[in-house]
Amino acid sequence: MDPIKVLALCGSLRVDSFNKMLMHQAIQLAPKELQFSLGVLDDFPLYNEDVKNSGFPECVDELNKHLVNADAILIVTPEYNYSIPGVLKNAIDWLSRYEPQGFYNKPVAIMGASPGRMGTCRCQYHLRQVMVFLKAWVLNEPEIMISDAPSAFDQQGRLVDKRIEKLIQNQMQNLSKMLRTV
Ligand code: FNR
Repeated sequence: MDPIKVLALCGSLRVDSFNKMLMHQAIQLAPKELQFSLGVLDDFPLYNEDVKNSGFPECVDELNKHLVNADAILIVTPEYNYSIPGVLKNAIDWLSRYEPQGFYNKPVAIMGASPGRMGTCRCQYHLRQVMVFLKAWVLNEPEIMISDAPSAFDQQGRLVDKRIEKLIQNQMQNLSKMLRTV
């Protein structure tokens, strides 16, 4: 089976992020044909049309190369104020201004973890809406919305619940299958 290139984006920049832990778990649990690259959002400036018109910043260009090269995208993100964290939305806004636009017609898997009870579901539905505009194809199921994140991971950042691991495996398998049908 040919390798499938997946760009993984995380909506949290913090070192001990639960969502970074989740992203690394997803990469480990994914089928072997999925080959991941990790998007770096740390240095993205705020979107400014004037800056864009004088040339995309280097870090944005760099991530866009990975996006264009990717067959699929994995987005792992916290929820901020019931929506998409500014870091992630800002990065998507930058990436959406390239022509051709790198999300176009690509499968996207979304997952997230939160210390709260709703497991990032409100953010995920906003993200799905954004992906409609970008004409990407968001995987319908399984949805992965991890609540009570501090109890969901052990000291090494591994998931403690095997049922969640299974869900992640299913989602990654579905991402792979989706690519063969889109
Ligand atoms: C939060 N948090 C949060 N959690 C949630 O479930 N729903 C929400 O709407 C919000 N809103 C929110 C806003 C802001 C500005 C911050 C900083 C935090 C809590 C958030 O889920 C928690 O900090 C997570 O640990 C962030 O994810 P990482 O960094 O652990 O991946």
